[in-house]
Amino acid sequence: MALRDDLEAIRTEGLAAFAGAADAESLEAARVGYLGARNGRLTALKEVFSALPGDEKRQVGKVLNEVDAALKGALKEAQERIASVSGDVAIDLTLPRPARAVGSIHPISQVALEVEEVFASLGFAVIDGPHVEADEFNFGRLNIPADHPARDAQDTFWLSTGKLLRTHTSAVQSRTYAKVAAGELTPPFRRVVVGKVFRYEAVDATHDNTFTQVEGFVVDREITVAHLIGVIKTMLAALLKRDDVDVRLRPHFFPFVEPGFEVDVRLLKGEGRLAKWMELLGCGMIHPKVLEAGGIDPTQWQGFAFGLGLERLTMVRHQIGDIRLFNGGDLRGIRQF
Ligand code: FA5
Repeated sequence: MALRDDLEAIRTEGLAAFAGAADAESLEAARVGYLGARNGRLTALKEVFSALPGDEKRQVGKVLNEVDAALKGALKEAQERIASVSGDVAIDLTLPRPARAVGSIHPISQVALEVEEVFASLGFAVIDGPHVEADEFNFGRLNIPADHPARDAQDTFWLSTGKLLRTHTSAVQSRTYAKVAAGELTPPFRRVVVGKVFRYEAVDATHDNTFTQVEGFVVDREITVAHLIGVIKTMLAALLKRDDVDVRLRPHFFPFVEPGFEVDVRLLKGEGRLAKWMELLGCGMIHPKVLEAGGIDPTQWQGFAFGLGLERLTMVRHQIGDIRLFNGGDLRGIRQF
């Protein structure tokens, strides 16, 4: 069959022509010669083919398609070969690769790490305690007996087991003093806790039901309120990244300290939309009864303690207007820090 022989000849010669083309010009000439729309040899055969009777058409059609695909494949290969030799590279290795999604450290975790660093530099050991806590440690040993009205100040998530989700990191204080009673620790010591606490709160722009507290406490000889203020100011200056941190102490009742204070920080212009001062922490001198509950003689040892809301501090630092940004799960907010 003449048509078949012609096809085989075109296949052999065409493949050789494409493989042998040394540059873009000779390749183009070969392309026009075999596959060109007007004078291409294969194109011309296709016209002959379409005039064949049905039976023959079926037999030859398969070969025609094969030869067509083989020539087009060889042409593409030759184009790539010539492009790479001439430096006209199909892949540009200098293009920046598509950005890969990477995570970031949550703003609260960033500040938490800084807090731990500041306190480590002041000689504090970093510790933590359990989130599911016993009444004894969260309240009892902190001079808040059952039915004491001070319990109402911290709305509590109670579990069916009788335990609770700790409402403040002061629970870690009582755990630490219990270690002294058990003979596992002796004063003096300095400790800091950064951890989650939970309260059955009505959530608003400055209150969440899950937030982070920093609890610092020192037990030593001849400790005074001056030490407490010094440590608090050192911490705030480091974390707010400014030297001129102005604090205000207001007398406040916490059953586990005497005297007790709340500390407000003066906000700079732009830091707070709602107030000039923001309440950041509670503090005071550790109550003698709390020390005694841990077998520590309050006539020999004194101490101070404070508990700070880390979200509130981070809000001041980054000028964040709503605490719900932190746990709301909206990554558009979180990723900005
Ligand atoms: C306490 O939790 C005491 N344990 C603090 C303390 C420790 C006092 C040691 C004395 C000695 P208070 O309930 O005020 O206190 O909470 C302390 C700080 O946590 C507050 O100043 C505030 O910054 C933050 N805070 C309290 N409630 C919330 C809340 N719902 N959302 C966000 N931050 C809160």
